[in-house]
Amino acid sequence: MNKSILVLPGDGIGQEVTESALTILYELDRRYNLNLDVSIMDVGGTSYEQHGSPLTDEVINKAKKSDAILFGAVGGPQWDNLPWNKRPEQALLGLRKELELFANLRPAFLFKELAAASTLKTEVIADLDLLIVRELTGGVYFGEPRGIEKDVVNNQGYAYNTMIYYENEIKRIAKIGFEAAQKRNKKLCSVDKANVLEVSKFWREIVEEVSNDYPDVKLTHQLADNAAMQLVINPKQFDVIVSSNLFGDILSDIAATLSGSIGMLPSASLNSSSQGMYEPCHGSAPDIAHLNVANPIAMILSLSMAFKYSLELPQLAEQLDNCVRQFISKGYRTKDLTDDDNFIYTNKVASKILDILDEFEND
Ligand code: IPM
Ligand code: MG
Repeated sequence: MNKSILVLPGDGIGQEVTESALTILYELDRRYNLNLDVSIMDVGGTSYEQHGSPLTDEVINKAKKSDAILFGAVGGPQWDNLPWNKRPEQALLGLRKELELFANLRPAFLFKELAAASTLKTEVIADLDLLIVRELTGGVYFGEPRGIEKDVVNNQGYAYNTMIYYENEIKRIAKIGFEAAQKRNKKLCSVDKANVLEVSKFWREIVEEVSNDYPDVKLTHQLADNAAMQLVINPKQFDVIVSSNLFGDILSDIAATLSGSIGMLPSASLNSSSQGMYEPCHGSAPDIAHLNVANPIAMILSLSMAFKYSLELPQLAEQLDNCVRQFISKGYRTKDLTDDDNFIYTNKVASKILDILDEFEND
């Protein structure tokens, strides 16, 4: 059966970067007769405007039937004051939950030519290549009970969330971490706050237990605050990091900035049947939306991750990654990667990458 891709451009620069990825997707489909079944639907604030909800049932149903979902970005200041369940971010959280996309892979790597774009010293980040495995459907993001209430006795408001992990949730994400480490440099660092939180103490025990099945992987543990600091001081000590939803969220933003620009980094969110949602790590960046200056590379590399993990096209993924690498080494820079005015506009990136593909093919 043909593989299917649901494309959800969303809001802000999500739309522009998705356009670039789509240009490439359509061209690859044509060239290599991939026979992909591609659909495009609204999500986030754009969907709220059109259909009154950031995530419609139609999108959920379509997503469930698709092999891969390409997700641009959601959010924008015009929707900040909407009721909780109408906010654009709910689309992201809803899709993660509905499809049980528990395993979020967030690579952080540096193209050596871009070392100068990072705020850190070149020697600290040269050859950076790490992977954050973030648990994505549990923890404090989804724990119940949660709420904002009024305490009538003390006459003041209060709010609460629940940080909870079940054993099976920790086991399955730990396994993903160990398996990823086995394919890389065989080091896994599990990040928690076991000095303060019961949920973290439990997390650590379960990760230790799972480690018995992976004797070839060296397991270490770090506390989240220390891990944040270590990522900045000496990021190359890490190979794979596994963490909970909340800590993984924070650590992955730190890791992303190490690579010069968050505009370079893709991500994959997978469930146990290799269905996946692929999205750039950057958000909707409303301040630069519709100026044709966003960097579409994170989105293009997210497409490549979709080829690899959900569409059974690993060679195509490798080819596309090589084209992106070549694009950078040829000196092309989007606005986020250069201080001068000689940058390439968003809508010119895809055709350059396809030109590079032609060069490879003709070699
Ligand atoms: C991310 C984002 C989301 C998260 C927001 C937009 C809900 O920060 O994917 O990292 O916190 O998971
Ligand atoms: Mg985040």
